[in-house]
This record gives sequence, C-alpha cells and structure tokens, in this order.
Amino acid sequence: MPKSTITFICTDCGGESLRWAGQCPHCQAWNTLQEFQVRKAVAGKRGPRANTAGASKPVALGDISSEAAPRRRLGWDELNRVLGGGIVPGSLVLVGGEPGVGKSTLLMHAAAQVAHHGGRVLYISGEESAQQVRMRAERLGTLEAGIFLLAENDLDAICESISSDPPLLAIIDSIQTVTDAGFEGSAGSVTQVRESAARLMRLAKEIGVPIFLVGHVTKDGAIAGPRVLEHIVDTVLYLEGDRRQELRILRAMKNRFGSAEEIGVFAMGEAGLEEVPDPSAALLGSAAT
Ligand SMILES: Nc1ncnc2c1ncn2[C@@H]1O[C@H](COP(=O)(O)OP(=O)(O)O)[C@@H](O)[C@H]1O
Ligand SMILES: [Mg+2]
Repeated sequence: MPKSTITFICTDCGGESLRWAGQCPHCQAWNTLQEFQVRKAVAGKRGPRANTAGASKPVALGDISSEAAPRRRLGWDELNRVLGGGIVPGSLVLVGGEPGVGKSTLLMHAAAQVAHHGGRVLYISGEESAQQVRMRAERLGTLEAGIFLLAENDLDAICESISSDPPLLAIIDSIQTVTDAGFEGSAGSVTQVRESAARLMRLAKEIGVPIFLVGHVTKDGAIAGPRVLEHIVDTVLYLEGDRRQELRILRAMKNRFGSAEEIGVFAMGEAGLEEVPDPSAALLGSAAT
C-alpha cells in the first residue's frame, strides 16, 4: 500500500499545516489553505528523500571550516552585488518575475559568464525546446562551448543529469514545468513545485552545485508562484520592469548569503540585457533626451 498523508498548504506563503483552518497560521492570510494528499505514486520507488547519500554524521564545531564559502563572481557586478558577492556553491537561488520580463535572458547571460572562464553550465529547459534556447543564445551572443542544454521536465532525470557530471552551475527554467513522479499533481501545482524545489535544495547542498530556478509570477491561482518557494530556497531575486521599456531591476528579497536590500539595474535591448552600473546617470540621461 502506498503511504498517504494529508496536509494543508497555504497557496499564498507555502506554509504547511496539519489541520485545516480559515486563516493560515504562518502568514495570516484568509481562506488560502488547500488540502493535499501527499502519496508516493509507486510503492518502493525511490522516495523524495532518497537523495540523501547515507546517514549524515555530526561534526565537531571546532572542526568546521570558518572560511566563508568561496563565491564564483560573474562578469556583471550588478549581478554579483545582488547575489551577495557572487554565486555560492551549493546554493539554491530563485529568480522570479512575470512572463516576458527577461528571466531566461538574464540566466543565459549568467550561464555564458560562467562558461566563458572554462566552466560547464547545465541549462535545463522545460518550457522551450533546445532549438529555441539556442536561437536566444545566438541573439544574445552567448554561444559558449561550455553551456549544455537539456530539455527535460522529469525531476529524476534532472537530478540524475546534475549529479552524474556536476556542472559549475545548473539552471532550471522553470520550476513550474518540473514534475516529481513520486508525488501527485500536475506540473505547477503547489505540491509539485514545493517538493521539486525541496529535493533540488538537498541535491545542491550534497554535491555543492549552485542551482538557479526560474519561477513565474502569475495571478492564476492554479499555478504555484514563487511565493510558495520563498521559505525553501536560500536566495530570492525578483526581476521587475515594464516590458515596453528598457529598464529592468533585479531585487534581492531574501538572501542567506548576503544583504536582502540590494538591487541590480539592467537595460533590455534587441541583443539581450546589459548591466547599468550607474543607474542615476542613465536615468538622468534618458530624462534629458
Ligand atoms: N528579438 C527579440 N525576440 C524576443 N525577445 C526579445 C527580442 N528583443 C528583446 N526581447 C526581450 O526579451 C523579452 C523576453 O525575455 P525572456 O527572457 O524570454 O523572458 P522570461 O523568461 O522572463 O519569460 C521580451 O519581453 C523582450 O523584452
Ligand atoms: Mg523564460
């Protein structure tokens, strides 16, 4: 018999409750708790926690290195600053934003900046075909030999691909297209989005690979938005901007490895994004014309 448990998840904050209540005990929103049956689809199938290799052992506090995790700096300081000084190995970073704002574009630029220095980057696309991603990379001028594409939705296949040959950076575009066969629900549901992200978090920490997740912000309640993930991931960045205008702001909303007050400024053009290191000058310049 497959094990089945019932839980209530807030569609607003992603908080979990064992009992139904009119008000979410975590974020106090009203009527947001939804019932979920969490059940392993196949008895004996590799469970969602099976990623943890062996039993973890306690380490003496004094034996733990006090050095800050070495960060991988990207070509753009606007991006490094928002990340808290670069990419931290083993971190799980959510890049949220409305469809079309430029999330895939931003992450392709980041991929190229890692690959440019000889690193291997795995770009996993569940939304666009490998050809579409290549066409974007051509337009952005980011056809780096170190970027590898995988068009995949299945979480088992994604985890296998990341762990069998760990890249310097893995990008998953988007978390709403990933499905863990061990759980019920279609891609984009609260359960799928939460469980997939939680498993990717464990994988990132185990093998020390940083993973960037794209998360669409959507008003449609049927699709779980990035807010459901905010408490799972290490870092939450939101890309904001008016699609009809050039300016894009990348805002840190949460960062376990840096300040959550930082913003980075970029400009979107035909050839993709450019960093805007001195936004006040750029704004004054555009106001003067
Ligand atoms: N020739 C172009 N083709 C497609 N998108 C372009 C082009 N030139 C600029 N863009 C910009 O790229 C945006 C799409 O970015 P994308 O990274 O696909 O967004 P997201 O991944 O957030 O949905 C468009 O909204 C537009 O601002
Ligand atoms: Mg996209």
